[in-house]
Amino acid sequence: MLIYLWAESHGGVIGYQGRLPWHLPADMHYFKTTTTGHTVIAGAKTFASFGRPLPHRVNVVVSHRAASEFPAGVTVLNSLAAVRQYAADHPQDQLYVVGGAQLFNGLMPDVDRLYRTTIDADFPGDTRMPAIDYTQFAKIGEQVGVRDAANPYDYVFEQFERR
Ligand SMILES: NC(=O)c1ccc[n+]([C@@H]2O[C@H](COP(=O)([O-])OP(=O)(O)OC[C@H]3O[C@@H](n4cnc5c(N)ncnc54)[C@H](OP(=O)(O)O)[C@@H]3O)[C@@H](O)[C@H]2O)c1
Repeated sequence: MLIYLWAESHGGVIGYQGRLPWHLPADMHYFKTTTTGHTVIAGAKTFASFGRPLPHRVNVVVSHRAASEFPAGVTVLNSLAAVRQYAADHPQDQLYVVGGAQLFNGLMPDVDRLYRTTIDADFPGDTRMPAIDYTQFAKIGEQVGVRDAANPYDYVFEQFERR
């Protein structure tokens, strides 16, 4: 199953200068607990932003570059077709596509579930979530985030499944 997992702020902003535009530890915790034990599939720029392979997860990177340019143990796929084949070869696995925009855009016809964090705030951004036709998806869950000193925004976690 292919699952998109991302956080967006006003205007669909997801990235700025190769990083997340915000510091929201509660969303990082959600990312970690949701993906641990499963597979993360990241574009090369997003993978670079992690700084290292994510522990306790199968790390798949999408890049035109050779596998030898990435850390040992990382699976490198060279095309979206290769990602689709990987998903077909792992039908029982939860495959979390964790961005960035290039991957989200290219795999839109293939995604089964959407796990979205919406942050009710303005941030500068140079990378946005591609448009999603939400009429094709039904909401299956929602959790309101706790606003506190460390997470000083209103935010909500939602899950959608393809109808
Ligand atoms: N808010 C969030 O939830 C979230 C999630 C993820 C990322 N982000 C942010 O988004 C930004 C990065 O996103 P991005 O869209 O610029 O980059 P990206 O999708 O992470 O990575 C782009 C790279 O992926 C590879 N790639 C993409 N499509 C490919 C294809 N069809 N075949 C082979 N390789 C392909 C290419 O790597 P090569 O150049 O190596 O060939 C390309 O340069 C950062 O600011 C990051 O922090 C935010």
